[in-house]
Order: sequence, then C-alpha cells, then structure tokens
Amino acid sequence: MYRVPRGTMDVLPADQPYWRHVLETAERLCRLYGYQRLDTPLFEDASLFQRSVGAGTDIVEKETYNFQDRSGELLTLRPEGTAPVCRAYLEHGMHALPQPIKLYYIAPCFRYERPQAGRYRQFYQWGYEAIGSMDPALDAEVVEIAWRLYQLLGITDLVVLLNSIGDPQCRPAYLKALVAYYSAHRGSLCRDCGVRLEKNPLRLLDCKEPQDQPLIQGAPRAVDYLCPECRGHHAQVEHYLALLGVPYQMEHRLVRGLDYYTKTVFEVVPRDGGSQNAIGAGGRYDGLIEELGGRPTPGIGFAAGIDRIILNLKRQGLTLRDGSRPQVYVAYLGDRAKDAALRLTAELRAEGLNTLLAFGDRSLRAQLRHANSTGAPYSLILGEDEVQAGEALLRRMEDGEQERVPLTHVAARLSQAVASQPGP
Ligand code: HAM
Repeated sequence: MYRVPRGTMDVLPADQPYWRHVLETAERLCRLYGYQRLDTPLFEDASLFQRSVGAGTDIVEKETYNFQDRSGELLTLRPEGTAPVCRAYLEHGMHALPQPIKLYYIAPCFRYERPQAGRYRQFYQWGYEAIGSMDPALDAEVVEIAWRLYQLLGITDLVVLLNSIGDPQCRPAYLKALVAYYSAHRGSLCRDCGVRLEKNPLRLLDCKEPQDQPLIQGAPRAVDYLCPECRGHHAQVEHYLALLGVPYQMEHRLVRGLDYYTKTVFEVVPRDGGSQNAIGAGGRYDGLIEELGGRPTPGIGFAAGIDRIILNLKRQGLTLRDGSRPQVYVAYLGDRAKDAALRLTAELRAEGLNTLLAFGDRSLRAQLRHANSTGAPYSLILGEDEVQAGEALLRRMEDGEQERVPLTHVAARLSQAVASQPGP
C-alpha cells in the first residue's frame, strides 16, 4: 500500500473547516492592513535561496529539496516565502510604485527536516512582507498583525519574543564579543556549537542542548552592541508596540535561522513551549533586496506555519462545523420517483441549495440512514404516491417531523427552512 511521503500529509475533509477558518481570518487581516496577495512558483532558481536565506544556514545546507530540470537548471522547492516575494518585487519593478509595497502569500513550503508533531517536510506558510520603508512604526504594525491573528483565532497562552540583532555596521563588533566569550569555553561546548563558533556564531545562542544553556544565559547581548541608529530604531519599535498595546518580551537569545535579518527579529511561541515550536516568526531584512541585485531597499515581514496553528487550535479543543455538508438529501423509491428526484435535485441546486441525491436504488431506510450520516438537516422523500400527487415529503432529520410540500414550492420552502438553521 502506498502512503504519503514521510513528513507530508493529506488534508482530509474533516480538517478543511480548520483550514478555511484560519485562511479566512488571515486574509481578512491582510485586507484590514492593506496587503495584496502575491502567488509565486513552487520552485525558484536554487541560488535565490543561497543568496538570501544563506548558503551556510541549516535550511539551505541541509533542508532544501533541490533538483536539476531536463535542461540542467538547478532549482529548489521553496523553503520559505520571503526570498520569492523580494525576487518578484524586483522582477516587476515594484520599487517604482508608492512604498511600502505590502504583499501576502499562502504557500506550501518544503524543508527536509526530521518530521515530528508540528514539523513537516511540506508545510504551509501564511506570510506577509512590507517592502520599502524603514519606519519603526511599520515593524510594530507587522508584529501587531501577527498578534491579532492569534487573538482572532482564539489561540491563547502565546508570547511574542522580540530582539534586535543590529545591522552590518554594528554586528561585527557583537560577533567579535560573542566569539571571544565562546572561545574561552570552547572545551565545554556541544559538537554542533563547536562548528557554529567557526561558521555562524549567532546561531550559538539558538542551541537547544541542555549543557550549553548556562553559557547562553551569560553570553553578550546583541542589544548592548547596537550602533546609535539601530538602538534608536529598536527604542522606537518598543515605543510603538506599547502604543498599540501589543505585549512582548525581550529575548536576547532570539537570533533566527535565516541570514537576511537586520535589526528587529521576533517570534510568536507557546508560553510553555520555547522557541523550538514557534507558530510564527519574522523580522526586518534591510539588506536583502540589495543582495538580490536591487537598489538598497528596506523590508520587513512575518510568516506563520498554518499547520502549527491548526495543531494548536485542535489542542485547545476548538471544534468547527463543516460548512460544506449538504443542506438537503433527496431520497426516492421507484423509477418514476427517481426521474422526479433527478429533476428536483437539479432545480434545488439551481436555486443555490447544497443538495445530495441518493444513488443506487437502495431501500428508503438505507437512504435515510445515509442522509443522517451526511449531516444534512433535511431530506426530501419521493415515492410513487408523492409523484402522483405532485408533492414531496419534507423531513426534518433532527426529530423526524414531516410535511407534504407541492413540488413547485419545495425550493422556496426549503430555502426558508435552511435559513433558520444555525450556520457552520
Ligand atoms: P521561519 O522561522 O523559518 O521563517 O518559518 C516561519 C514559520 O513557519 C515558523 O515559525 C513555523 O511556524 C513555520 N514552519 C517552519 N518550518 C516548518 C516545518 N518544517 N513544519 C511546519 N511549520 C514550519 C521564515 O520562513 C521567514 N521567511 C519568515 C519571515 C517572513 N521573515 C520575514 N518575513
């Protein structure tokens, strides 16, 4: 028997209401804050991610799905959404439009990770990017949108972790201090951190090994090394976040696993879960557009893992009714009644009623049992007698109450009946 590839999943009909709920809420928020949708291809030139996310990052080094197409092009399945958005911004000359450009996406992403709850090889990101403004009020707005999403969805016990990791002006001094501090403890580091010390010292702060935690606690903090511009920017971000009433916590260990960040970085994590389980993350990337060949252009954005959001919603016990269930089930007995049932079904659908027609000429009992299992609140029953009389039997499934309705009135009577039903 075939199974889904490891780390991927089918989104079954029972899960669709959760997806619809999250996506509708996310898209409503995007409209509220002036973001427009952008869809980019599933794969991009491999070097796009090497130059943006960073050739030395875990994502690019260990997790990308790369393949060569038949003409020898090296392509990568999108591991994240920011780089493709910046590529599209440049490709379509969006710098010539009034800035900032605000774009959002809902996109499958691919990372070859070790699968576990909330960590998949194909997952979905809802992300948004605002390109073309340095204003720290935009940083605060970007954090606010993320915060509002989780509030609107009703996910509780989350915390926003915030940090500033400076820019190319001030980061070298910070990295120097970090390397000096860690070099003095080189002997006691875990194996991965030994490598990080050489290749990507910022990631030392991201280590999850228990043995390295005390070292992380005592490590130099990026905010203490910010240049005046970055320090001023960070202070303003904090000011605007307070003004907007967005709660956050400074987290000096927050460094992010992608190379393009400058200044503001943030993550939204479960209060008791730690940053391994971020249900969303983002930050500023003021050097990225230039790195990709454009003029110096600032940017900031955020992406949430939709799969992780849904996992949290379910953990909290949120149940959603399936809005796609039929509104009426049409049952029949005998050939003449079947003809009438087909005609009636077509009529009801033309009136916009979600209608399921029985198939297979089964007994009425079997048909009604099927009607029950579909969750349809009403069924219509057509037998020889009803057809003769030009009527149908309208049955309320909840309590079995039945009424005879002339065939010409069925659509109107049903529309009225379903309007009084609770929504999904
Ligand atoms: P990221 O932290 O790599 O950032 O991913 C953002 C979110 O995607 C994570 O917080 C998590 O919810 C979800 N996610 C990541 N990997 C997986 C996985 N394997 N399975 C399930 N969910 C996952 C970025 O991707 C940046 N592009 C965010 C950003 C946008 N920064 C600025 N703009």
